[in-house]
Amino acid sequence: MAKQITEKVSWVGKIDWELTTFHGDELSTHKGSSYNSYLIRDKKVALIDTVWKPYDQEFVQRLKQEIDLSKIDYIIMQHNEIDHSGALPELMKEIPNTPIYCTKKGEAIIRGHYHQDWNFVNVKTGDTLELGESTLTFVEMTMLHWPDSMLTYMSGENIVFSNDAFGQHYASESLFNDAVNQSEMMWEAQKYYTNILNLYSSMITKKVQQILAMNLPINMICPSHGVIWRENPMQIVEQYLKWANAYQEDQITIAYDTMWQSTRKMAEAIAEGIRNISPQTTVKLFNVAHQDKNDVLTEIFQSKAVIIGSPTINYGFSFAIAGLLEMIKGLRFKNKKAAAFGSYGWSGDAVKQINAHLTESGFELINEGITKLWVPNQEDLSDCTAFGESIAKSF
Ligand code: FEO
Repeated sequence: MAKQITEKVSWVGKIDWELTTFHGDELSTHKGSSYNSYLIRDKKVALIDTVWKPYDQEFVQRLKQEIDLSKIDYIIMQHNEIDHSGALPELMKEIPNTPIYCTKKGEAIIRGHYHQDWNFVNVKTGDTLELGESTLTFVEMTMLHWPDSMLTYMSGENIVFSNDAFGQHYASESLFNDAVNQSEMMWEAQKYYTNILNLYSSMITKKVQQILAMNLPINMICPSHGVIWRENPMQIVEQYLKWANAYQEDQITIAYDTMWQSTRKMAEAIAEGIRNISPQTTVKLFNVAHQDKNDVLTEIFQSKAVIIGSPTINYGFSFAIAGLLEMIKGLRFKNKKAAAFGSYGWSGDAVKQINAHLTESGFELINEGITKLWVPNQEDLSDCTAFGESIAKSF
């Protein structure tokens, strides 16, 4: 059901309480998500974005209850990954000649996905569309996070429609940021940033500064996923500037895998060493074979160091650690230290290989790491505790 959010704007999206993973299985969404679409009724009527394909018919039927579809003058497609453009074919069956405003790349992506010759109007940064009392201004957001991404500013009601930027995979019937659990919401916003946007941090800084320099009054930020930033909307912009600037807290994350508990024992002894020297530092341990990978990545994003442990398997590291290292490399964390550890039976190569991956991924290695043969005895565990103490002293 549509929800009016200002005098001229209604939310006409879909709240997806069932969603548990996104981008295939790449991203866990423990709190569901939403696909936010917005209907602006001024002298002219504009629809901003649609919803994910599985909800296309539901979306169009509900939109029909809200407005005679022939009265929609413009469709604004800010980004055309299928979670936003998926309902476009169903909608265009009803209003095939309605112009679709999007970036040039957006047109290419829509054509590549749906193979239809719709009425496209390409827009670029600074282009405007008069709706009557309000004007839409488009700002390209290239690679934030796709080549076609853009945002739309609506004058009069002073709303930024930000598409994926400032979103969260967070289902809520409440719709607004001031009406939900704050820590849940911010965790989901940070997890979203870590797993989707961190790679583009330097571009985010430049783009946010460019938008701030425009000195636009902003009453509300309406993303395409999760809650609308109504109360103090600039808080998420300020948070993005912090997150984009080599973010870290006083936290050290120990992420490990273990076959017969030896590497786990080493992890716990290392944690004890860190706590001995730096009791104020938050130390968290995750067995990555059993924990949610995207949650662990978010913990690493928060950390000033990550300590990665794996037993040596097949002269290398474990399957779970391989996945984590690949994700770490892709997300390009900055300003973080790292170290490696692990038990072994005969070669002990895992630590050397983890070190190589961490270095390649831009982490500053604190030391050469620590290995222990078979099951660590008390002396071995004391060495691991001393190893943890040396890590804590490196800050
Ligand atoms: Fe929410 Fe990039 O799609």
